[in-house]
Amino acid sequence: MKYLSVILIFLTISIPFIYSSVSGPDLKSGDDWSVPGWATITTNSGFFSEETSTSSNINVGVFDVAWRQLNPSKDVYTYTATATVKDMAFQSFNTQNSTTKSFWMRIWNSGVDWAPTWIQSYCSVGSIGKDYDGDSHLPIWNSCVWGEIKKMYSHIFLDLNMRADPRLKFIYVPGAFNWCEFDLTEVGNYSTVTGYSYTSFNTWFQQAMQDLVDIFGPYSYKLVYTGEDYPFDVDNWPATKNLLARDAVSKGMGIRNGITEIFNFHLSQIPAYGVTIDTTTGYLNFNKSWPLQSNPNRVIGTENECYNDCGFTVASANIYYAVKMSNIKALQMGVNWLYLVPSTSYISTYSDFYNWIRYSLGKQSNTAFDAWATLRNAQDTFWSSDNSLNWPGKPYIKNLETNLLQRDIKGGAYTKNGSTKKTNIYGGNNDLGISYEGRQTDIASGNNTMSFFLDDQFSFGTIKNVQIKVTYLDLQPSQWLIRYKDNDIVLNTTAVTVGTTNIYYTATFNFTSIQFNNSITIGRNADFEIINTGSKDIEILFVRVVKSFSVSPGTTTGSIHNSDSGANTIEPNETSILSISFNLLLLLSLILSLI
Ligand SMILES: *[C@@H]1O[C@H](CO)[C@@H](O)[C@H](O)[C@H]1NC(C)=O
Ligand SMILES: *[C@@H]1O[C@H](CO)[C@@H](O)[C@H](O)[C@H]1NC(C)=O
Ligand SMILES: *[C@@H]1O[C@H](CO)[C@@H](O)[C@H](O)[C@H]1NC(C)=O
Ligand SMILES: *[C@@H]1O[C@H](CO)[C@@H](O)[C@H](O)[C@H]1NC(C)=O
Ligand SMILES: *[C@@H]1O[C@H](CO)[C@@H](O)[C@H](O)[C@H]1NC(C)=O
Ligand SMILES: *[C@@H]1O[C@H](CO)[C@@H](O)[C@H](O)[C@H]1NC(C)=O
Ligand SMILES: *[C@@H]1O[C@H](CO)[C@@H](O)[C@H](O)[C@H]1NC(C)=O
Ligand SMILES: *[C@@H]1O[C@H](CO)[C@@H](O)[C@H](O)[C@H]1NC(C)=O
Ligand SMILES: *[C@@H]1O[C@H](CO)[C@@H](O)[C@H](O)[C@H]1NC(C)=O
Repeated sequence: MKYLSVILIFLTISIPFIYSSVSGPDLKSGDDWSVPGWATITTNSGFFSEETSTSSNINVGVFDVAWRQLNPSKDVYTYTATATVKDMAFQSFNTQNSTTKSFWMRIWNSGVDWAPTWIQSYCSVGSIGKDYDGDSHLPIWNSCVWGEIKKMYSHIFLDLNMRADPRLKFIYVPGAFNWCEFDLTEVGNYSTVTGYSYTSFNTWFQQAMQDLVDIFGPYSYKLVYTGEDYPFDVDNWPATKNLLARDAVSKGMGIRNGITEIFNFHLSQIPAYGVTIDTTTGYLNFNKSWPLQSNPNRVIGTENECYNDCGFTVASANIYYAVKMSNIKALQMGVNWLYLVPSTSYISTYSDFYNWIRYSLGKQSNTAFDAWATLRNAQDTFWSSDNSLNWPGKPYIKNLETNLLQRDIKGGAYTKNGSTKKTNIYGGNNDLGISYEGRQTDIASGNNTMSFFLDDQFSFGTIKNVQIKVTYLDLQPSQWLIRYKDNDIVLNTTAVTVGTTNIYYTATFNFTSIQFNNSITIGRNADFEIINTGSKDIEILFVRVVKSFSVSPGTTTGSIHNSDSGANTIEPNETSILSISFNLLLLLSLILSLI
């Protein structure tokens, strides 16, 4: 009896240790962009540019031709002519087509100097105005002009079947306006230059995009629409009508954005990407079911090279911040193809960061190696004066997140603004507005917790070998820990002591086993929580959950699986078995010593 109670006491004491499957924290100053060894590059993803660069992992260069090179007279096609566009010498189609490498394409067609000369007299059209580089453009919505552009696309991509060329990764369409970006800014605006009403412009637009999708047929995922959601230049049509980009994507095209460098502005409500503002909370919603996001063949592009270029200037103290946030914004939008220029994108300067970006591009919840949340509160000033959309805290938007959400919730998990205020990042251009980076606990009001929720397709139930990395500001003396769950028991990690160096640290905890099933604390239902156990507020910048080992999709050890089916665990892990065996051994030796 005596021995039995000793054993029972031992069991009671040792259960938390048996399941205390966590080690750490490991502390590192600054950010931590490590990528687990098992991660692979997503097939339909990568860095692209005008020119390839092996050392910068830019493997897809451009195939650029002007319409006039290909179609010198009506219904005549040639492949040996060269052209000059914006002082760039375009080699002949044949010369460029002789490459064995992958490429992306632009057919420059709207410029007076890009289109064949016969078009103007044949269609009785002339310049509608100049773009910001001084190039004049033709009205591609003129039915005669569009009819001839359509024939040219049809000839190259359907008759010659270039649409099926595996080297062709994607093509910017429709190939109109400055840099082939479907943006008339400074030319005028659609209604002034066309005299079109919304209805007649929209009728042309819908048919023209459908024409391209029809020409590409099963390869329409290679089409990349180059206009923006809520285009600035389409006149003061109401926001509900300014959804041309969303419509192009609905027809089957991909999309790209040219200005994620300005990462707060005009990029919160982007229905073409399936990203919208949650008007009840001010966080962003990401729609994984939107065909652009759910079909891994589609192209979701952006370009991040204008930090100290293209007329922008970023002070040296802010370059890392601008590069980091613009690329994090790109990932939050689900980008799989990223346009970079080695020098002006600072690829070698921030090589660890770009390595993480390169592995992250194009991942979906069930293929991602990590889940992360950037905690912040930042203005999207595009909406400041537009009343068609309203939300609490407008124009501030909270967080940038992928597969991991931090949510302010009742019961002590409300956060307040971080202490780091950023503004005027791009020289005098204040398009970025104001942002507060990081979020703080608010212990004065009884809010000592930050609650985190993983996407169930990223992880649900018990998984093995997970790291949680928390980047925090060493702001004022305090302490925090992670509250997590394993084997149905809620546990604490050891505490991280916060000091006063005013620099960022990343603390890493390794979990040999952890259970994510939305049930840490009654009422809050988080997957894990950061708890402030000190007497001053803590400031958290970035939280990342990393799967240290590959997981096989479709299996689960979660107790109850909710409606979202998908990827789950697990790799059998010897460490946890070992730790249990070790405890059994201890127990056995105790029993033996007692007998
Ligand atoms: C956590 O795991 C990483 C990667 O396996 C390892 O380098 C590190 O030493 C581990 N830290 C602790 C405290 O176990
Ligand atoms: C372009 O190159 C591909 C691959 O060699 C070839 O199949 C195709 O016919 C070429 N296109 C033209 C227009 O010559
Ligand atoms: C477009 O032009 C019309 C007519 O000049 C003008 O009223 C409108 O404000 C312009 N829209 C934009 C977005 O510039
Ligand atoms: C997400 O996209 C799907 C597919 O287009 C659509 O049916 C659904 O309504 C969208 N969900 C939200 C919340 O917008
Ligand atoms: C936490 O903050 C919220 C919002 O400011 C407040 O309503 C609540 O009373 C605070 N305290 C607790 C324990 O939730
Ligand atoms: C955060 O800052 C914004 C802008 O100054 C302000 O509107 C908001 O009330 C602040 N939120 C908190 C919780 O302090
Ligand atoms: C999570 O696990 C607990 C047991 O610890 C269980 O009671 C609860 O129903 C589970 N929740 C979900 C959402 O599966
Ligand atoms: C975890 O830490 C919190 C905050 O200090 C404390 O209230 C709780 O009792 C701890 N739980 C365990 C299992 O140690
Ligand atoms: C289990 O986890 C440990 C520590 O992270 C690791 O060294 C070991 O390789 C893992 N075992 C398996 C089978 O994945």
